[in-house]
Amino acid sequence: MTECMDQNRIIIFDTTLRDGEQSPGASMNLEEKLRVAAVLEEMGVDVIEAGFPIASNGDFEAVNRVAGTVARSTVCGLARATRADIERCAEAIAPAPMKRIHTFISTSPLHMKYKLQMAPERVLEAVTESVALARNLVDDVEWSAEDGSRTDHDFLCRCVEAAIAAGARTINIPDTVGYALPDEYAALIAMLIDRVPNIDKAILSVHCHNDLGLAVGNSLAAVRAGARQVECTINGLGERAGNAALEEIVMALRTRADRLPYRSGINTELITRASRLVSGITGIAVQPNKAIVGKNAFAHESGIHQDGMLKHAQTYEIMTPESVGLTRSTLVLGKHSGRAAFKARLKDLGYALGDNAVEEAFRRFKDLADRKKDVFDEDIVALVDDQADGVRRIRFVSLEVLCGSKRAPAADLELEIDGAPGKVKASGDGPVDATFNAIHQLFPHDANLQLFQVHAVTQGTDAQAEVTVRLEEDGKTVTGQGADTDTLVAAARAYVNALNKLLVKREKTAPKALSA
Ligand code: KIV
Ligand code: ZN
Repeated sequence: MTECMDQNRIIIFDTTLRDGEQSPGASMNLEEKLRVAAVLEEMGVDVIEAGFPIASNGDFEAVNRVAGTVARSTVCGLARATRADIERCAEAIAPAPMKRIHTFISTSPLHMKYKLQMAPERVLEAVTESVALARNLVDDVEWSAEDGSRTDHDFLCRCVEAAIAAGARTINIPDTVGYALPDEYAALIAMLIDRVPNIDKAILSVHCHNDLGLAVGNSLAAVRAGARQVECTINGLGERAGNAALEEIVMALRTRADRLPYRSGINTELITRASRLVSGITGIAVQPNKAIVGKNAFAHESGIHQDGMLKHAQTYEIMTPESVGLTRSTLVLGKHSGRAAFKARLKDLGYALGDNAVEEAFRRFKDLADRKKDVFDEDIVALVDDQADGVRRIRFVSLEVLCGSKRAPAADLELEIDGAPGKVKASGDGPVDATFNAIHQLFPHDANLQLFQVHAVTQGTDAQAEVTVRLEEDGKTVTGQGADTDTLVAAARAYVNALNKLLVKREKTAPKALSA
């Protein structure tokens, strides 16, 4: 269990890899989950909810591998109130030095009647049985009352008391449907503290969804009422409108310590890196005006604001960009830079790549430096992110596209598939269509293109384009990235990247997909 002697220490429980990953289009592969887990650990997240092990073999493997690599954060897995779920979860988290089973059951009248079709007394028994079973397997057990904010208060008190009596050390009261208002949710937490006789034996936790845009407000109101664990996700990723955003919770605690005298253990300077990693992997862009991590969060456009900023930064800035790890783009390396400097820069940017991957990144960096005057950190991140996958059966070799207003687009593409070179010419409705048709001819497949997104990595017309492609096949989605100064090459790389991920996913059969 995460020991927190300080009464005002807030435990940060990150569920990006579970509740976040469960949201449409946000699925991540194993290697991506490990990268996210590594950043969360480095940031100082107390508990990483790594997945829902019974949901699929892929989920089990991801939780198991995170448990095998993360040492400084507690690794948690989710389980419904059944023996099979709880045992599978215990098995998945076994390698972790600090591990937690998070088991849950719905407690609201609506959920018990329609979703579970169980009588309240039976639900109450299941609470005791599931927590007791989990406690036989691990010391650290969290119990959640799903749809807790819409649960009858007397019944919620009985369930919480039973869960604590059976050994739960953390009691989580989710606002599953994002329905609560801050004063109401705070009152619910205060009510539990007041009425549950053994409440001092557990830490109260909150888990808020953002359907009314109140997830962060509700979480902070609950903290003021006595909750000491907040469940949240990077960029507020999550089901429907998402979960409470980790970066907003943590920066509100830091910036308004005058009114919120609590502290988290998060190194806030890693926030920007974590945010970019998660949006890059999932292809879910952060809205420009998103608090803390939006592109405009620290931009001052109006003349009056700029004038004020120049006179004194605090006139319009309540926190510094540096405090969230946002540094101005720095000119890092040029075409004469050597391998050692490049490697050191990669390390500073948080990448621990194997020798082959460094070699490939270095080769692409040199190539980029030949074509682009200034190479910035963002360029290097984009290059590395588009190649950071393990298995690559398909390799991009070259692309030439002819297009314009006077001719039909035609793409001339070279790929290497399982080591064998392939070359094809294809046409299409536009240059992107021609490029993707060429890929399709060389590697026939049935996946549907769900997302095609382009963004400029830096400013200027020589900027690299970063393309995100999401493919869907039989309900499985994968996201691939590609970066290049040529948008079409970036598009081809992104598509190939996504196909490689799909091939890995095809091999991992999911018996049944579950979500919580
Ligand atoms: O929103 C919710 O209720 C959940 C639980 C499984 C904790 O995600
Ligand atoms: Zn949730």
